[in-house]
Amino acid sequence: MRALCYERHGDPRDGVVKNVFDPRPGPGQLVVRVVAAALNPADWKIVEGKFPFLLLPKTPFVPGCEAAGIVEAMDARVSGFRAGDEVIVSTGLRGALAEKVAVSALQVARKPANLSFEEAAAIPAAGQTALQALCDVAGVKAGQRLLVNGAGGGIGTFAVQVGKLLGAHVTAVASAGKHEILSGLGADALLDYRKDDFTRARQEWDVVFDVVPNRSFGECSRVLSREGVYVTTLPGAGPLFASLGASFRAPFGFRKRCRWVILKPRGADLDRLVGWAGEGRLKPVVGKVAPLDQAAWALSDLSAGHATGKTVVRVA
Ligand SMILES: NC(=O)c1ccc[n+]([C@@H]2O[C@H](COP(=O)([O-])OP(=O)(O)OC[C@H]3O[C@@H](n4cnc5c(N)ncnc54)[C@H](OP(=O)(O)O)[C@@H]3O)[C@@H](O)[C@H]2O)c1
Repeated sequence: MRALCYERHGDPRDGVVKNVFDPRPGPGQLVVRVVAAALNPADWKIVEGKFPFLLLPKTPFVPGCEAAGIVEAMDARVSGFRAGDEVIVSTGLRGALAEKVAVSALQVARKPANLSFEEAAAIPAAGQTALQALCDVAGVKAGQRLLVNGAGGGIGTFAVQVGKLLGAHVTAVASAGKHEILSGLGADALLDYRKDDFTRARQEWDVVFDVVPNRSFGECSRVLSREGVYVTTLPGAGPLFASLGASFRAPFGFRKRCRWVILKPRGADLDRLVGWAGEGRLKPVVGKVAPLDQAAWALSDLSAGHATGKTVVRVA
């Protein structure tokens, strides 16, 4: 089969499409013929070696965390799927940018008929990060005010819609060119970060989800409500110390919290998102579609940090 391969960590444009061995289903696995695979910032960070060292795949490797395609084969212990089923898969941190991929049956959902393969491939990583940030970490409730910073990209376009599905009033922060799309997704208010600094606004939000992430808890505290939560997509020393600092101030009446999301691929979360998408209540936003031969360039383009929705690679 053909796959996008990297012989070393470095420039995303150095990826080469070449022939590699077909995968075989391991215990509990299916082999899926990939029709479309979606790109994530994790892919270019892994390629550039800017990912936690212990999680970096050894070279050579095929990047790609998610795909949609058709079941081709499966381990005898897998039940509930048949060859020919159209499915959506999470592949972990590698492997999706190939004509076939082997995945655990626990990370597979059926593709709803109303979604294209490109739209379906876009759901797993960004959709689950948005869902887990808003439900598990921030605990967004109906009627709360949510601000999404970086609303026009992969996670942001899901976060705006998930926020609306949870009943929140959603403010989307993005460059002006993305405002029309975000209105169409249900955003109640729009801010252009090139003109307005939301951390200086004269209003408050119950949850600030910093997807980009480029604003600190300290900056966002000014616009958080009394018990407001700030959630970042970048765990690390900054958020850890900010969270500890907030805990120390809690006995003196400080109730604002600093949290972070770490994506945990979970079949139940994928099923929930795919269920909403199947009912037409959640629409994956696909910005660019590139053929496999141009996937390395598409990855390089994504690394500039200004994607609209998800970038998808058409494999078959
Ligand atoms: N913690 C986790 O488990 C986890 C999981 C997944 C992803 N992530 C991380 O989350 C981050 C976002 O991922 P993504 O998939 O949404 O990325 P993406 O698709 O590349 O989107 C980034 C978005 O940020 C916007 N942006 C850039 N500069 C901005 C600014 N100064 N203010 C506001 N918006 C700005 C861009 O749009 P404009 O054109 O409007 O600038 C773009 O739409 C990445 O760093 C990724 O590695 C973390």
